[in-house]
Amino acid sequence: MCEISKHFDGTNSRRFDLTSVTDCRLIDLPRITSHQGSLTAVESKTTIPFGIARVYYLYDIPGGATRGGHAHVELEQVLVSVLGACEVILDDGGRTKSVRLDRASCGLYIPQGIWREMNKFTSGAVCVVLASTPYRSTDYIRNYASFVEQKQQAT
Ligand code: TYD
Repeated sequence: MCEISKHFDGTNSRRFDLTSVTDCRLIDLPRITSHQGSLTAVESKTTIPFGIARVYYLYDIPGGATRGGHAHVELEQVLVSVLGACEVILDDGGRTKSVRLDRASCGLYIPQGIWREMNKFTSGAVCVVLASTPYRSTDYIRNYASFVEQKQQAT
């Protein structure tokens, strides 16, 4: 079982400036097991709380690497560590939360407006990312001070 929550509560439509680390949650993904192994399938707007517009994956990650280091204006994501493990640091400009992802049947939902960094990848780790929009460089906030300033403008 995932440690935080397996329920989608419909809050994913919150705008950038309203989201907090408490909106980031773990989602139990269905797992079908047999003597021949396990299978997990996900579907848009049911298992995953948004329409999936893009899938990408992180792999060949060197030891000690840090990924992420940005926030998104509109994009929502679910991260799944399908092989190995990593740690995700979540930050809403006021509070931080650290989540370890270490199983293929558990996804971490991250709404818009959350700064994230991923580190402590185990050797050979593969992280699949399900994203709610196509790739748009303009959706990224890559400057942390600017991110905090934008979040604080809303409070
Ligand atoms: P980036 O989002 O910075 O990766 P991470 O957050 O995992 O560290 O993206 C790294 C590079 O890949 C950057 O040049 C943009 C490019 N990229 C795409 O072209 N398409 C994509 O869907 C993504 C996620 C990244």
